[in-house]
Formats: sequence, C-alpha cells, structure tokens
Amino acid sequence: MEYFVKSGNPEKQRVACVVVGIFERRSPSEAANVIDKGSDGVIASVMRRGDMDGKLGTTVILHNVPGTFADRVMLVGLGRERSFDETAFRKASTAAARALRTTGAIDAVSYLTHIPVKGRDFQWNVAQAVLATTDVYYRFDECRGAKAREALPVQKLERYTFDVPRRFDLPAGEKGLNEGLAIAAGVSLAKDLGHLPGNICTPTYLAEQAKKLAASYTPIKTKILEKADMEKLGMGALLSVSRGSRQPPKLIVMEYMKGRKNEKPIALVGKGLTFDAGGISIKPAAAMDEMKFDMMGGASVFGTMKAIAELKLPINVVGIVPASENLPDGDANKPGDIVTSMAGITIEVLNTDAEGRLILCDALTYAEQTYQPSFCIDMATLTGAVIIALGSVASGLMTNHPALGRALLGAGEQVGDRAWELPLWPEYDGNIASEHADIANIATKGAREAGTIIGATFLHRFTKNMKWAHLDVAGTASIGKRATGRPVPMLVQYLINQAARRPAR
Ligand code: BES
Ligand code: MN
Ligand code: ZN
Repeated sequence: MEYFVKSGNPEKQRVACVVVGIFERRSPSEAANVIDKGSDGVIASVMRRGDMDGKLGTTVILHNVPGTFADRVMLVGLGRERSFDETAFRKASTAAARALRTTGAIDAVSYLTHIPVKGRDFQWNVAQAVLATTDVYYRFDECRGAKAREALPVQKLERYTFDVPRRFDLPAGEKGLNEGLAIAAGVSLAKDLGHLPGNICTPTYLAEQAKKLAASYTPIKTKILEKADMEKLGMGALLSVSRGSRQPPKLIVMEYMKGRKNEKPIALVGKGLTFDAGGISIKPAAAMDEMKFDMMGGASVFGTMKAIAELKLPINVVGIVPASENLPDGDANKPGDIVTSMAGITIEVLNTDAEGRLILCDALTYAEQTYQPSFCIDMATLTGAVIIALGSVASGLMTNHPALGRALLGAGEQVGDRAWELPLWPEYDGNIASEHADIANIATKGAREAGTIIGATFLHRFTKNMKWAHLDVAGTASIGKRATGRPVPMLVQYLINQAARRPAR
C-alpha cells in the first residue's frame, strides 16, 4: 500500500472511498458538512434515521452519494467535539482503517486528518493516521503453509491519501507522512521478529537479521560477538544463561554514526531472549509459548535502527542486543550458582528465571566500556510485575537521570507509546543483597514486593557511570499472542527530538 498527503475538496475526489468524521450529537465535521450540502442532506438523513450518531469509533459506509465523484463515503464517529483528543483521533483513524479493510475500495482519501487535536499540528495528525492504519493492515503470514498463503485474502486498498486543509499545510503533512512511515517500518520489523517462533528466531537468526539490516542501509554497521569473544571479555553473567541452551549466544552490535564525528552515541540495549522457559527454575506450562516474545526489547532495537536509517537522522546511535535462550539443561544455571559479570561484580543466581538482568548487565557494561554513550537506554521484557502494575497501557520507566526520563516520557506521549515512571530510590538497594556474592539476581527480602523496581535496581548496579534509563516493556511489547512493536515509536520519536535539538555540523 502507498500513502500520500494532499489538499483538495472532499466532493471532488475521484476515488473509491472518501472518509469524513461525524461528532456526537449528530454534528458533522466540516468535510462531512460539505458533502451533506452537495448531496441535499444525505448525511443528515442517515443521522436522522439513527444510523450514525457520531459515537467514537463507529462507521457507516454510504454508496453513490449525489454531488460527489467517489464510489463511497465513509462516516466515522468522532465522539464529543469538546473531548476530541489524541486518543480519540487514534481510535477514529483505527476504526476508519478497519472499516476500509472490509470494503473492495482500492483507493481512499481521508478527511479525518483535518480535525484539529489540541496541542498537535497536521504533522502529528498525519503521522498518527499512518501509524493507526499500518497497525490495522499489519499481518504475519510467514509461517503459514504454501497453500494457505496462496489462499490469503488480497489486500484491496492500494492508495490511501490523508488530506490537509490548505496547500500551506502540505509540508507539515509530508513530514508527518515520512516520520509515520519510518516508525511504521520499524514497528513492523519488530512485530515480525517477535511473531517468529523460538525454533526459527534464535540468537543466530537475530544476528543474521542484523547483518541484513547493515546490507540494506549503508550507514548501519554490524558486529557480532561470539561466545569466544564473550569469554575473553569475561561476560560470565550472559554466558551463564546460554549454558542452558544448545543455541550459541550472540552479542549483536549495530552502529549508526550519522551525527557529528566526535559526538558520543546514544546506546540502545535490548533484551534478546529468544525463548524463556525459565531455566531450572522452570515456568509453568500455561501460555509458555508467549515467552518467544522475550526478545521484544531486542526487536525494538532492530526496529528503531531501521526507522532512523529510513529517516537518515543526523545522529550517532549504537544498538546492542544480547541474544540467548533460557532453557533447562544439564549444564544450565542452578539456583545458588554464583557467576562473575564483565564488570567484576559477582552475582548469586537465586532464580534462573530472572535471566534478563543477567544477559543485560554484561551488555550494559559492554556499552559503557566500548562507547561511553551520551545516554544509555535499555528495553526489556524484564518482569511480570510490570504487567500487574501498569497493564498493557504504559511501559515502566526507571532512570538515574531525570532529564532523560522526561525526554522519553514526553516522546512517548507525543507518539502514543506511553511509559510511566517508577522510582529507583537507594532504599531498594538492600533488597538484592546476597549472602555470599556481591548481589543476588532476585529480591532476598520482601519476596514479591516491587518486582519491577528490583529488576531495575539490579541493572543500576552496572549503569552508575552512565545517564541511563530502563524501560520494562513486558506488558506493552506484546498482548496475548500478538506483538505490538512498542517501544519503537517512543524510541524513534525520542531520537527524532534529539536530532532536532542539535542539527549535524
Ligand atoms: N521474561 C520474563 C518476564 C515476563 C513475564 C515477560 C511475563 C512477559 C510476561 C522474565 O525473564 C522473568 O521470568 N521474570 C521473573 C523475575 C522473577 C523471577 C524475579 C518474573 O517476572 O516472574
Ligand atoms: Mn525469565
Ligand atoms: Zn525473560
């Protein structure tokens, strides 16, 4: 599908479908009004008959509306005009895309992008409309059989245009389109990697995908650290997790250096646990398949690298993905084992299922020692506790640098991929005290308390020298059997904002 931005009159569009909004209490948007007038009140009569009352997210499709050149006119409920906000805009855009998908229309023009959203501009409207639409149209069929793939319904919509009110608004609209499409490409890559099952998407597979990314985008350079390299670096924590698996671990490094020569990069470190069975502290069987999503933090690094390469952002970024499986084996970590991390900190592995922090701590030390990043952000499906705390609405954010936290929270708000901050106070430090090692990998007091903060507290032992933020995305990166692509939008928006703050050279 191709997306466009234009500025034109709704009644003059020669397309298969024109999309216009209706506010609650039967109050048509401007574009709907124009069509209503030109058709001698077709829309008014639909509303009078009670088929469209403007309730947010409802849709009605009309055919052969007089006074227009379009085959169809879709009415989309927008809810109360006074409360038409960012969420409402996204819901209306999603509803329009879902309804479009059920029609045979091959092209469409939407006027929903005309509707003002408080505090946002047309660049935002178009970007959000693109993100909502690409989300609806996303499918994952790579793993279906040849016959089933042939029989898949064809996707009819080929061209979707988002209209802006004035020619003057076109540059903003184009910018929104460009950013929206780049983020969508990153989200889609992250989703694909997530949906691939553990037997296909192994650490080795992820490493190959990184090489592919470097082959497609010249500014991206990939480096893969093998088990032997990790041994040399003393990554005893990462290696201890992969000992339980027959798949060799990989430390995937992707450099994108399009900023100023001497500017330190922003490091993105993503948990790439391609399947988490828990290890010897094995997980219960129910829904264990969903632990194929335990690499979504890593997948978001891939998606973000792709998006910033598409946007050619003038910025230095390094993506680091420690990749491993966590399985029970004769050589696996055992509860009570003590391992030595690259930082020299010894760790008592009291629960082999708290493996994310073990692979991340060495990757974070590697990031610090190799790049001295200006900022370091890690993304991980780290704790079930964050799902209890925040559900699938917000990712958990913890940071040792308030300004970085604010920048990430703001970027998330901007793009509809929100996080909520949890504290990282020193009062929690004592909870990971170990009897015989420097620290334990789970709480040694208050067993079920503050699980998400304890995870971050552990990581913080390895990030004291960096301006660092941790995103726990266990609740947001996937919902049930579906990957969402989060936190790619937040990360890309953050990097777009960073690039805008300091233009190159
Ligand atoms: N990958 C899991 C966290 C997770 C749980 C992600 C549910 C998505 C859905 C992580 O490795 C894990 O097992 N964490 C443990 C930590 C505990 C042992 C301290 C958890 O949250 O139960
Ligand atoms: Mn685990
Ligand atoms: Zn895990």
